[in-house]
Amino acid sequence: MPLKRPGALLHLLVYATLSYAQGNATFTLPPQSVFIDTRTYAVLGANGTFRQDSNTELFNPTASSPPFFQIFDESFLDIIGNNSFIREIASNDTFAFAFEAPIYNKNTNEVFFASSLEANSSIDLNNRIGKISMTDVENALASNASVINVPVSELDIPDTVQLANGGTGPFKGSLVFVTNGRGARPPSVVLVNPESPNNTTVLLDNFFARQFNSLDDVKVHPSGKFFFTDSTYASIFQTRPAPLIPPQVYRLDPDTRAVRAVATGFDEPNGIAFTADGATAYIGDTGFFEAVVDQTKPATIFAFDVDEKSQVFKNRRIFAYIDAGGPDGLQVDKNGNVYAGCFDGVQIWNNEGVLLGKIFMGTTVVNMVFAGDGRLVMLTGSKVYLAKIAAEEIPPFFP
Ligand SMILES: *[C@@H]1O[C@H](CO)[C@@H](O)[C@H](O)[C@H]1NC(C)=O
Ligand SMILES: *[C@@H]1O[C@H](CO)[C@@H](O)[C@H](O)[C@H]1NC(C)=O
Ligand SMILES: *[C@@H]1O[C@H](CO)[C@@H](O)[C@H](O)[C@H]1NC(C)=O
Ligand SMILES: *[C@@H]1O[C@H](CO)[C@@H](O)[C@H](O)[C@H]1NC(C)=O
Ligand SMILES: *[C@@H]1O[C@H](CO)[C@@H](O)[C@H](O)[C@H]1NC(C)=O
Ligand SMILES: *[C@@H]1O[C@H](CO)[C@@H](O)[C@H](O)[C@H]1NC(C)=O
Ligand SMILES: *[C@@H]1O[C@H](CO)[C@@H](O)[C@H](O)[C@H]1NC(C)=O
Ligand SMILES: *[C@@H]1O[C@H](CO)[C@@H](O)[C@H](O)[C@H]1NC(C)=O
Repeated sequence: MPLKRPGALLHLLVYATLSYAQGNATFTLPPQSVFIDTRTYAVLGANGTFRQDSNTELFNPTASSPPFFQIFDESFLDIIGNNSFIREIASNDTFAFAFEAPIYNKNTNEVFFASSLEANSSIDLNNRIGKISMTDVENALASNASVINVPVSELDIPDTVQLANGGTGPFKGSLVFVTNGRGARPPSVVLVNPESPNNTTVLLDNFFARQFNSLDDVKVHPSGKFFFTDSTYASIFQTRPAPLIPPQVYRLDPDTRAVRAVATGFDEPNGIAFTADGATAYIGDTGFFEAVVDQTKPATIFAFDVDEKSQVFKNRRIFAYIDAGGPDGLQVDKNGNVYAGCFDGVQIWNNEGVLLGKIFMGTTVVNMVFAGDGRLVMLTGSKVYLAKIAAEEIPPFFP
């Protein structure tokens, strides 16, 4: 879903009472980074400055200016490397052009994304799918440009593809999107040709003739099956009628088009990701963010085992609880580290759920994608950022 922190003002929480040093770091800090020694804030005391609101007050004990890397664990250095940096690469002050559904198409070295449903959106106007060229980005970086704003071009997508909100792939040459649908138009799973003429194929738009609520995000499993989440956000945002089916996770076989539920019992199932072997699934639940924002409800990533035979999700367990907003888009890197777009940027855990560090943006990263090894492209709506890091991607299983 397009999670968006309420209110435009950014409140950075500063622990004024703490005298903060670079902790007890015994390593050389990479550029644009700080080390957060947990001992320096473990006790705040009766007069401490406590956060009242996980969504609007962010945890920035060093009071550093974003963007920067917060290092909580030395092994985060293996993820960001020694030459890391974070740069804005595209922006538009008047249009949230890059909100959701990031997909990297290696053949053309382009990143695709969908715009927000809020701006310039009406019952007759779909959100837009755009793209940037990573070759443009690399050229701008090589020229030492002080400001980078590469051109965005838009695809001509038919209105059968209403409100694309999740994306992955490519799968056998096609971009894979899931859509919210709009009004009576059903949510759907859609293939889009990344190259001209951008023809589309709707693979699925119902569950045994019942409409889904608002499909949120999708990943291709190494078995070649598609797995997607269905939240109730479109109903909350009043672009769709009231839910008629629980918020769940489903599997689609792209060949037979058979669909089945694989996990249930969520408030708002949102981002989805798999480990490279397909044995573990991660689902973000953003139940805290509904018509009423309630920080006592889930802002939680759950881990599951994927049953080898049936592929249902079993052994549900908590993987991480988010300290800033909740988990929106999810990705896993080659070493099994898990990345989530949160209200303060991208938070990164190892496969045991230990928070290693954050790419602290001071604002919501809705979703992100590896544009090949070492390039993490992050979407905030009206801006796209690149984090050059050391981590490597899990390449698409069926490009
Ligand atoms: C860690 O640093 C704090 C102050 O920043 C210091 O008081 C403490 O002795 C250090 N601990 C270790 C184990 O070096
Ligand atoms: C907390 O603040 C009160 C009122 O200003 C003060 O009397 C007290 O000493 C403070 N306590 C600590 C532990 O600093
Ligand atoms: C960073 O530099 C150190 C010291 O040269 C080296 O040991 C380490 O492998 C480097 N890390 C990465 C991720 O390249
Ligand atoms: C922002 O997006 C709008 C809508 O596509 C476009 O008309 C405008 O030129 C863009 N502005 C910039 C600075 O790219
Ligand atoms: C989007 O909507 C805003 C507010 O109605 C308007 O100012 C702006 O010109 C619109 N942009 C486009 C590209 O239609
Ligand atoms: C960019 O900066 C680097 C390092 O300062 C320098 O080696 C390179 O020549 C510069 N490139 C251009 C195109 O100015
Ligand atoms: C199809 O998409 C490409 C970019 O991927 C774009 O350049 C082209 O104009 C689009 N063609 C049509 C017919 O929309
Ligand atoms: C686009 O059209 C081509 C040629 O008919 C077809 O092979 C391809 O499967 C289509 N792709 C999609 C995503 O509809």
